[in-house]
Amino acid sequence: MTRKVTKAIFPVAGLGTRFLPATKSIPKEIMTLVDRPLIQYAIDEARAAGIKEFIFVTSRGKGALEDYFDHSPVLEQELRKKGKDKLLEVLKGTNMDSGAIAYIRQHKALGLGHAVWCARRLLDPKEPFAVILPDDVIAADKPCLQQMVEAYEETGGSMVAAMEVPADKVSAYGVLDVKEDMGSSVSVKGMVEKPAPGTEPSNLAVIGRYILDPNVMKNLNKMKSGAGGEIQLTDAIADEIETDRGVYGFRFAGQRFDCGSKAGFLQATISFGLSRDDLRDELQEYLDELSAMRAAAQ
Ligand code: G1P
Repeated sequence: MTRKVTKAIFPVAGLGTRFLPATKSIPKEIMTLVDRPLIQYAIDEARAAGIKEFIFVTSRGKGALEDYFDHSPVLEQELRKKGKDKLLEVLKGTNMDSGAIAYIRQHKALGLGHAVWCARRLLDPKEPFAVILPDDVIAADKPCLQQMVEAYEETGGSMVAAMEVPADKVSAYGVLDVKEDMGSSVSVKGMVEKPAPGTEPSNLAVIGRYILDPNVMKNLNKMKSGAGGEIQLTDAIADEIETDRGVYGFRFAGQRFDCGSKAGFLQATISFGLSRDDLRDELQEYLDELSAMRAAAQ
């Protein structure tokens, strides 16, 4: 029997330089897909998977995140007075229970592994924990982390979300060397962070959802410097491969958007817009117009 996954770490300390100048004054995680900040998608996914405690690893300039998750009684009162019940519900859906969120600062940008390690004292040394990278937004009928929790109940060990990516993109990811392919789950015999082009063990890439054995935290204590001179989470997970717990990749069902890139962010915006009843028709009409104009110009 695996233990329940109730805590998740959200590494949100990055500077977001790819989105400058916007990120000069707002954290990247507050940037919105339609009308919900990136971080809200990550939180909703975690909640659906049964997560009860949310640990944010932040840095200077991320104060807006704390405000975002605070209750807003004045705004709520105003909406109630005006009878805007729907909006009130939307707003209340973003409220977090008192004490459910903790914020830890990563004082130096030493890598993803280091960011996760910063949260070590808030975890139970015997319990598995989840890590969610909010840049990876995944649209799915059943939220990705929930799919993983179900698969993890069968495998135990440590599990990473995985997806086949095009050959020219794979060296931007953590990449899995597959021991046994069981369909949606694979067992892993090797894992390498950002392999040099041409040396990738496969094109099965790690996507930003993890369920990790507590021992991964111990592995992070070694502070091994990896790809790009950073302390990599991938390396600490790879240290689990030789144990009897093992490491698994999980091919989730759903569409992943790389919202750490501008193109990915725009694609997600369009896709989420088209999935909304209140926006679909108008947006689709505009897209049709646009492609008709392009076709006419060619
Ligand atoms: C991080 C991880 C990498 C993973 C990727 C998924 O890399 O280190 O293993 O494949 O997220 O988005 P980053 O995108 O922060 O360079």
